Amino acid sequence: MLSISVAALIWLVSLRTFSTALDPTLEGTWRDWKATHGKEYVQEEESFRRAVWEENLQMIQDHNKQADLGKYTYWLGMNHFGDLTNEELDKRLHCLLSDVDNVTNVKGITFKSSDDPDIPDHVDWRTKGGVTEVKDQGECGSCWSFSATGALEGMHFKKTGKLVSLSEQNLMDCSTEPQNDGCDGGYTHLAFETVRKLGGINSEKSYPYDGKLGSCRYDPQESITRCNSFGQIMENDEKGLQEAVAKIGPISVGIDARSKKFGYYKSGIFREPNDGEKQTNHAMLIVGYNDSSVGNGYWILKNSWSTLWGEEGYMRLSKGSNQCNVAEYAVFPIPDPKKGK
Ligand SMILES: *[C@@H]1O[C@H](CO)[C@@H](O)[C@H](O)[C@H]1NC(C)=O
Ligand SMILES: *[C@@H]1O[C@H](CO)[C@@H](O)[C@H](O)[C@H]1NC(C)=O
Repeated sequence: MLSISVAALIWLVSLRTFSTALDPTLEGTWRDWKATHGKEYVQEEESFRRAVWEENLQMIQDHNKQADLGKYTYWLGMNHFGDLTNEELDKRLHCLLSDVDNVTNVKGITFKSSDDPDIPDHVDWRTKGGVTEVKDQGECGSCWSFSATGALEGMHFKKTGKLVSLSEQNLMDCSTEPQNDGCDGGYTHLAFETVRKLGGINSEKSYPYDGKLGSCRYDPQESITRCNSFGQIMENDEKGLQEAVAKIGPISVGIDARSKKFGYYKSGIFREPNDGEKQTNHAMLIVGYNDSSVGNGYWILKNSWSTLWGEEGYMRLSKGSNQCNVAEYAVFPIPDPKKGK
């Protein structure tokens, strides 16, 4: 049923774009792009994908011209998402459930922020050694599990000084919370709940990523770390969030990634006008900030879209005006003080 309607939609859109002439001067660039990203299409799909790609390329080039003139603080770049329509990109991104009531009903331990916190003007958990390599969620709406492993990896690092890559697949397969639905999205704080209930989490190495929901294969003997609760930062408290990043470590956040430009972010400090909607549809990990930049500085965010996206997989996001609703939903795991594991 669903696949028929999607196919029909593609067919309808392709009828429209068939009438749009493709730009013959882009032939070589298109071929290179397909080769770089290993893209192959059936004949009927090729001109549709090419037209979508050309439209995205045009948007990227227009934006960058404006950015070069100082109209934007960030640049875009063609990447592996280049042949996706806005709807497809949005579907891929829709991985953090954004029901506002549910997010505000999160019952974690509230982080107590100070009025005048004594924290450094820049923090980067990557240089401290607390952040693993950039991962790739692929064609699966599992960002919530990547954001969660990132925070758990940071928690474990802070506790033991050891950096171990942790298993997203473990979180996906073993979630007992019905809202955490594998590739169809979930909540990061409920992933911490899963770790608490299981009594641990396995490593990426022993429980690798499949990018689809499977049955739970968690092995308690192989547990790397455990958490016994989770904390949260007060909604929209960006100052508190900054203090938490400095004092606690990497923090999982919900992000409003609905802007079309978000998917093609390449470099610079991302900043877009806020449309006032309190939405978050993507989960990422704050690994640091820098205050000694123009304005209010920036956040450093780790994504799970491979190193092809952004600044080697990371984004710098303008700080101080709740860009992309960065402070709407911010949570972190609290370690189990008992055993080492
Ligand atoms: C919000 O929470 C309720 C109760 O737990 C659940 O039934 C509902 O599916 C949730 N909504 C979303 C979008 O997760
Ligand atoms: C912080 O930002 C400023 C201005 O962009 C830059 O010069 C400086 O190198 C940054 N600091 C770090 C530690 O990255």
